[in-house]
Amino acid sequence: MKIGIPKERRPLERRVAVSPETVKKFTGLGAKVVVETGAGTACGLTDDLFQAAGAEIASDAAGAIGDADMVLKVRRPMTAAEDGPDEAAIMKSGAVLVAGLDALQNGDQVKDYAAKGIVAFAMELMPRISRAQSMDILSSQSNLAGYKAVRDANEYFPRAMPMMMTAAGTVAPARVFIFGAGVAGLQAIATARRLGAIVSATDVRPATREQVMSLGAKFVAPDIEESGDGEGGYAREMSDEYKARQAEMTAKALEKTDIAITTALIPGRKAPILITAEHVKSMRPGSVIVDLAAEMGGNCELTKPGEVTVEHGVTIVGHLNVASRIAADASLLFAKNLWNFLSPHIDKETGDLKIDWEDETVTGTLLTRDGQVVHPQLKGEG
Ligand code: NAI
Repeated sequence: MKIGIPKERRPLERRVAVSPETVKKFTGLGAKVVVETGAGTACGLTDDLFQAAGAEIASDAAGAIGDADMVLKVRRPMTAAEDGPDEAAIMKSGAVLVAGLDALQNGDQVKDYAAKGIVAFAMELMPRISRAQSMDILSSQSNLAGYKAVRDANEYFPRAMPMMMTAAGTVAPARVFIFGAGVAGLQAIATARRLGAIVSATDVRPATREQVMSLGAKFVAPDIEESGDGEGGYAREMSDEYKARQAEMTAKALEKTDIAITTALIPGRKAPILITAEHVKSMRPGSVIVDLAAEMGGNCELTKPGEVTVEHGVTIVGHLNVASRIAADASLLFAKNLWNFLSPHIDKETGDLKIDWEDETVTGTLLTRDGQVVHPQLKGEG
């Protein structure tokens, strides 16, 4: 089996879908791994490192994926309309594609995979079952994004995070408020705490209260009984009354907040607005908002996705693809997620792919097979 890894060509993308560790593991099972030259350069993984781990280096995308039986990528393939090679067109019919494909937002591209005979797996659709935790790219990448968000906040925050008692006087600790205590939010809490900040957090899912408190942060919630538990461990949209109470709570909380980090998402929808323009106006000048939901429109009404702006003296950080801003570790974890997903489906004797089509991690992520779109959510069934 030949596994091909092209260089990621989307703007701001610095990650790569394999690491020297996973190259070694795949070749150890008898596979041939071909990496496009420069695929890991942006995150410090040189061609030499991949070669030393057993990979071959191809001089272009066609050399890496042209005759590959399986193609591993971080992001969905480039299309003919975009700048760069039409990656799906280079792949051979019957090849397997495994990547974060943003499938639900790119239905037409999924139809194209089917038309080209590609067997596509969308890693972002991995079911949230305990067995699949080690295969969950959303989780591994959000974790690092939560950490990076605190560092990004620090870059613009004109004060220190920890309390410091010095001969010249006392520096007050920063007060950090985290909106959304999922994977990214919990890591942001832990990171801000490690830096000595006083941290509070809120979330709509009741289970997060204990998780927030176990990290030494204060849990704050609107004064209303309503659970935000949705399907598959995710949140659902809240009632108008909840939103109104939450806005009051936010107004109070932000009066005393130096850094707000927002991470709240609802699957398949625009991110909920939790910090309005009025809220921003009420914050102290010099405060910082890092909006990790920028990709989905943002949790702050004034966030400009992809930009860092200053509104009413408050810096609003709307970086996109935050995991790629910490690309080396993000790549290592992403690569490991792919290995954990794929290795049970590689025949240990022959090194060939032998997919168990009944496996829940396969049925949950499989988009196309035998020229057809097969995923229920893309066939309008889910
Ligand atoms: P997410 O990225 O979709 O959302 C982030 C957080 O925002 C969630 O905690 C959500 O409850 C919260 N949120 C949504 N709307 C909100 C609002 N209006 N106000 C305040 N907060 C709001 O979720 P994420 O972080 O990807 O995962 C959520 C949970 O799923 C995790 O805490 C974990 O328990 C579970 N999970 C399970 C996995 C597995 O079993 N394989 C893998 C990864 C996560």
